[in-house]
Amino acid sequence: MTSAYPITERQRVELKEQLRLMAFDMAQLVDDKQLQTIQMGLGKRERLTALLDGELDFHGENGAYASHDLHAFAAKFPPQLPRAFIRGLTQPGDIVLDPMMGSGTTVVEAIIAERYGIGLDIDPLALRLSSAKTKPLNADHLREAGFGIIDSAKTLLANKSVIEKELARRFDEPTRKFIDYWFAPNTQRELLALVIALENVTDAYIRRFFELTFSSIIVTKSGGVSRARDLAHSRPHLDPTKNPKNALDQFALRLRKNLISIARLKTNGTSAFPLVGDARCMPLPDSSIDLIVTSPPYANAIDYMRAHKFSLVWLGESTVNLSELRSRYIGSERVGQHKNTAFPPKPEAIIRRLSERDKSKAAILAKYLAEMGMVLCEMHRVLRNDAAAIVIVGTSVMRDIDVETHNCLAEIAATLGFDVVGVAKRTLDRNKRMMPARFGRRSDSMIEQRMHDEYVIGLLKP
Ligand SMILES: C[S@@+](CC[C@H](N)C(=O)[O-])C[C@H]1O[C@@H](n2cnc3c(N)ncnc32)[C@H](O)[C@@H]1O
Repeated sequence: MTSAYPITERQRVELKEQLRLMAFDMAQLVDDKQLQTIQMGLGKRERLTALLDGELDFHGENGAYASHDLHAFAAKFPPQLPRAFIRGLTQPGDIVLDPMMGSGTTVVEAIIAERYGIGLDIDPLALRLSSAKTKPLNADHLREAGFGIIDSAKTLLANKSVIEKELARRFDEPTRKFIDYWFAPNTQRELLALVIALENVTDAYIRRFFELTFSSIIVTKSGGVSRARDLAHSRPHLDPTKNPKNALDQFALRLRKNLISIARLKTNGTSAFPLVGDARCMPLPDSSIDLIVTSPPYANAIDYMRAHKFSLVWLGESTVNLSELRSRYIGSERVGQHKNTAFPPKPEAIIRRLSERDKSKAAILAKYLAEMGMVLCEMHRVLRNDAAAIVIVGTSVMRDIDVETHNCLAEIAATLGFDVVGVAKRTLDRNKRMMPARFGRRSDSMIEQRMHDEYVIGLLKP
């Protein structure tokens, strides 16, 4: 591997020994540059600069190690990204936070690097998923319980009338309509039989693992066993010609895969705390966090709930509650009452330009930036002094205007007291990153074009 900062073989050996004593896992360290910046005992700012200048694309690298591959999640970032910053900027035993944790990539990386991981999210699927991905479980025990669930579900299915009665009783009217629209009658019976069987698992962590295995047969790019054609890239479309596979068979297949995945999770004594919490008002004390690595929703409003609803309705959530929750997502297009925020010059100018073309789009952007201002303010409050925050975000094009989300957020962060150490660009691996449906109708190919790149904003609380 080439490096801008070559070191001799002897230095490398000495450094490896030094790092071994510091309990770093050598195999996981990323590149020579990172090794050398640690070796040189550089300050946090220099280390952050070196990391931002280093490899951030990670194309072709395997992102399916540890428990990362338990379940699909829109706009999940490659685990190598938080890994590089966690290992380069913190020590074992430090506390790493992701206030918009999604599928928990940052918290998983924190615990496998012997740091503590705290994650916040308001999305019920993100919370379930992160809690399952960060809890090591005994694979033999899980295997036995998992195949027990399949056997119980088969027995339940043999008694069609019981299942039919339960289907008629369990859901409120709007949820029932949703299920009838998106799931074939056979599939409904199979899914409900699995749900009833997994509800009988008494250990909450084990049950969570099975709930996620269950969910992962529905929330997939192809729409899984639902009748949706695509849950990843567009508004879901009903495909009446789709012949969904048997849900029990899919569960068995996914179970085998997820058993391997969870068995790979090794935490070495630290743990993760995935919590329900709004990033705009974090339930965390001042100056308590050693590093933040996070990726907020994009300004063009990714609609997580649209896909997540498909499995959450089976796990006890009603469509009405889920729709209400949608408006609390950062980036949601529902422009409610919000105070006029004074922005720094760059975001102010972009909002003004956009407003000349489309007032309602300008209001959506202003709301997004105001909400992200609240998140950045909270990030600043909970970080210790000399601790970094890494914010990974893509820009958006609205009415042909590149809203430069990264530059706007960097300027807002600076007004809040952050030292903006740098903004690096990374290119998305289009084959890997599942980009989800967005709010509203958009056919602007510029948006797709922009989504090839995203930006890594490196901030330091002085
Ligand atoms: C781009 S995703 C994060 C993906 C994550 N980095 C991963 O690797 O899976 C953004 C997340 O922000 C969450 N989010 C949106 N609004 C939020 C809020 N007000 N408070 C906390 N999380 C929020 C969404 O639910 C979503 O899970």
